[in-house]
Amino acid sequence: MQTLRRKDILGLEEMSAEEITLILETARSMREIMQRHIKKVPTLRGRSMINLFYEPSTRTKASFELAQKYMSSDPINVAGTSSSLVKGETLKDTVRNLEMMNIDCVVMRHPVSGSAHYLARNVEISVVNAGDGMHEHPTQGLLDMFTILDKKGRLEKLKVTIVGDIRHSRVARSNIWGLKKMGAEVVVSGPTTLMPPDMEDFEIRFEPSLDDAIEGADVVMALRLQKERQEGGLFPTLREYAELYGLNSRRVEKANEDALIMHPGPINRGIEISSELADGPRSVVLDQVTSGVAVRMAILYLLLGGTKEE
Ligand code: CP
Repeated sequence: MQTLRRKDILGLEEMSAEEITLILETARSMREIMQRHIKKVPTLRGRSMINLFYEPSTRTKASFELAQKYMSSDPINVAGTSSSLVKGETLKDTVRNLEMMNIDCVVMRHPVSGSAHYLARNVEISVVNAGDGMHEHPTQGLLDMFTILDKKGRLEKLKVTIVGDIRHSRVARSNIWGLKKMGAEVVVSGPTTLMPPDMEDFEIRFEPSLDDAIEGADVVMALRLQKERQEGGLFPTLREYAELYGLNSRRVEKANEDALIMHPGPINRGIEISSELADGPRSVVLDQVTSGVAVRMAILYLLLGGTKEE
């Protein structure tokens, strides 16, 4: 049985192309399980997991829980707002207490960048990062790559244009690291004020003109404006943002005819992307959601599959 030779899934910056390939290949088998009439395999029977969400989530939380249930594990959900965090308990104390209940894994979303790494250093159980601040959202990057691979048959040498709030987006960071490792060309576009200060570390092309960035793209990915993480004054108004950087059918005419249109969700319709495009024939936005369950099943299987003794 193949496993990931690591305790945690924290980000794609630290993951090798071989590991990414193993996860994407495993996810294909997992999607087959999802499509069965009875979506249940005993693979993780007896394994217990805590889903600890300190920020809102629809897709990530639901898909992790479904993935855990499809593989017969026992998930427990703990929401930050109803946990002992509000009584002043630290993250480390919370998880060390939960660890003493003999759980096998914690899936955590947290508003602070680096919180998943911090936790992983302080507990013995596996930590899966479900999004930490502005840092990484590795399972989203993996599910996006899985969707592209499924539709295009490859990742290598594809031109992927990512548009919008790169600076505050953990989705952008995970996609950039992952796609580059898999041989894709990544171009980013958006207001200069929404570009990360450390952009040269990524070694990607920044194209301020959206039309130029989209020219010849195989994939065009719009990002959500991370209003909860932005300080004020980064762009004049939402209307102007939409005019300059919102994706619509006219704008994506410059992309390749068979270009995929992506968005990680949740979508602010009419701002980041028009409804016509988001719901149109080239959109794979809902396929991304389906991929999320398969990829999360693959990750949990590869991290925790087999017996504890093994
Ligand atoms: N894409 C994503 O992370 O969505 P949620 O915030 O709904 O989980």
